[in-house]
Amino acid sequence: MQTVFILNGPNLNLLGKRQPEIYGRETLADVEAACRELADNFGLGLRFMQSNAEHQIIDWIHEAREAAAGIIINPGAFTHTSIAILDALNAFEGPVLEVHISNVHKRESFRHHSYVSLRADGVMAGFGVEGYALATRRMATLLRSG
Ligand code: DQA
Repeated sequence: MQTVFILNGPNLNLLGKRQPEIYGRETLADVEAACRELADNFGLGLRFMQSNAEHQIIDWIHEAREAAAGIIINPGAFTHTSIAILDALNAFEGPVLEVHISNVHKRESFRHHSYVSLRADGVMAGFGVEGYALATRRMATLLRSG
């Protein structure tokens, strides 16, 4: 069975409580449940993780080299700062999809640039938490055709 890693960066543990006018009221556990149901339907294994630590996210991407067929990542604010996460993703061979709950392009200019987009095969932004489900669906398509 092919496994997909869904990786979440800093502050996403507060989803549902943090700035709900921007990020909505659903929690990360709700997002995980929705993605898990979809992954099951597509016959994909899923590991869903969150960390506030950049090194932990990098370690999971390294682990994905052996353990995952694809990566879906919402790097949170590391999106805009982390060359180290970009380098780790460049060492991963499968498809990478980037997710942002909010439309980062409609927000402050420092959110307009993404290091991760230099590697991502697709980007979802501004679809709310539904973006994760849409990315999971897209990942299933990419893995089927790859
Ligand atoms: C985010 C957008 C980032 O700019 C922000 O730092 C986040 C969440 C999003 O999902 O919309 O933490 O990645």
